[in-house]
Amino acid sequence: MAQYEDKVLHELDGIKEYDNPMPGWLMAIWWGSLIFSAAYLIFYALSFGEGSMEAEFRGDTQAALTAVQAHYDANPLVTPAPATLLAGARDPAVLDIGAARFSRTCASCHGAQAQGLIGPNLTDDRWIHGGSVEQIFQSVAKGWPAKGMPPWGRVVKPEELAALVSYVRSLQGSNPPNAKPAEGDLTVAEPIPGS
Ligand code: HEC
Repeated sequence: MAQYEDKVLHELDGIKEYDNPMPGWLMAIWWGSLIFSAAYLIFYALSFGEGSMEAEFRGDTQAALTAVQAHYDANPLVTPAPATLLAGARDPAVLDIGAARFSRTCASCHGAQAQGLIGPNLTDDRWIHGGSVEQIFQSVAKGWPAKGMPPWGRVVKPEELAALVSYVRSLQGSNPPNAKPAEGDLTVAEPIPGS
């Protein structure tokens, strides 16, 4: 205390007010944050071109989209051969995969028995977009987004996608209860080999 005795500003009833400088470490933080904030303002907040946060965000987004597109280009959506899809319609292992995925992903719109709900009945012989396994594959993979059918080709694994088509084909003529009235054009179902 002794070194401050000469800096007493006021004294009242023995209570002294000193005029002490701010400690050096506190001043260092003060000046440090002032300089940092000025630099931050200039380099990040005010630089609208290269190096701004917005440019960085745009760059990262573009890079991610390019990577996704490159992945799509390297892994094109391949329609399995119709014979494979039809053979799957009587292969229990394939149907198990298809049924499991259907109840998880499709039943909410098409009904648990594919009898139709928001989406059309998939068990009858009428199809809005065609009932060949190839056309069904296209409907499932690319969807009809404008009509409320989402595209699943990039969401569902390729083997599940094929299994879904085989499963839907296997439901032809299953006549579930509470079926939604048929929509679309009459399609003669392709025969399932060996059945
Ligand atoms: C969000 C609701 C919704 C989900 C989920 C959905 N669909 Fe659809 N789906 C629709 C609607 C709505 C249509 C009718 C589109 C139209 O009228 O063009 C449709 C149409 C279809 C068609 C064409 C039917 C025809 O008559 O040509 C097939 C096949 C189909 N969906 C299969 C599936 C499969 C398989 C899944 C699960 C992977 C699925 N959908 C999931 C709503 C859905």
